[in-house]
Amino acid sequence: MSQKSKTVLVVGASRGLGLALAEEWLGRGFQVIATMRNKPEGLEALAARFPGALELERVDTAEAETVRALRQRLDGRRVDILFINAGIARAIELSPVQAKEKDFLDMMLVNALAPVRTAEILRDLVPAGGTIAIMTSELGSIAHANGSWQLYSSSKAALNMLMKGYATQHDHDGHTLLLVAPGWVRTEMGGSQAILSIEQSIPLVVDMIEANRGKPGLRYVDRFNQSLPW
Ligand SMILES: NC(=O)c1ccc[n+]([C@@H]2O[C@H](COP(=O)([O-])OP(=O)(O)OC[C@H]3O[C@@H](n4cnc5c(N)ncnc54)[C@H](OP(=O)(O)O)[C@@H]3O)[C@@H](O)[C@H]2O)c1
Repeated sequence: MSQKSKTVLVVGASRGLGLALAEEWLGRGFQVIATMRNKPEGLEALAARFPGALELERVDTAEAETVRALRQRLDGRRVDILFINAGIARAIELSPVQAKEKDFLDMMLVNALAPVRTAEILRDLVPAGGTIAIMTSELGSIAHANGSWQLYSSSKAALNMLMKGYATQHDHDGHTLLLVAPGWVRTEMGGSQAILSIEQSIPLVVDMIEANRGKPGLRYVDRFNQSLPW
């Protein structure tokens, strides 16, 4: 199959790592469907550079009906790689007694429940042999936890656990399932102190996705294709 005939759907591609994923796959000759909540300048500029190869869609993963509407619009399409990137970080330095409950609940919705629900709604667009990847974090590892960003980390650990359940429930799909840890990257979320540029992370993430193609089952994995401890 030529790269040209392959389609990747990136959910949450308006900026940061999601926008970079869309750009990387466009550069590798893929058809890219990229979702946003509002009209971001970055995606519009990218669409102008790759006419026809980039399709823009609107999805808010916290609102399941917007994901279902996308599923309807994509009826009859095949998605070779579904990459669910959308995520938020709130109250990052705060403990459970300091944080606002709403900040924690928002992270549990957007970072844990919504990605797996999005995978559930869109999974039948992905043929056997295809890939569903979700952006988690190194911070989602309970084994490696050191107390930093503890509320955010908890939401990513919950995502990892929910994906374990998903993998068991859908083990006949023949999908490669990846929980992706991209490293600490300079984006709005990662901040200026982060150790990696986007260019030092995202091409490796896409290489890693490619290296796992056609290998069914669930992995929690970093950009170097190393498995991480749960
Ligand atoms: N940067 C890091 O160091 C790092 C490390 C590990 C993991 N991650 C994970 O990587 C992913 C991307 O992070 P980033 O650093 O690129 O963050 P970012 O710059 O803050 O971008 C977050 C992206 O998620 C989208 N998003 C947030 N809530 C959404 C929702 N409800 N529905 C749809 N889209 C939504 C945002 O869209 P809007 O523009 O509409 O807000 C934006 O495109 C996240 O899952 C994050 O947890 C990041």
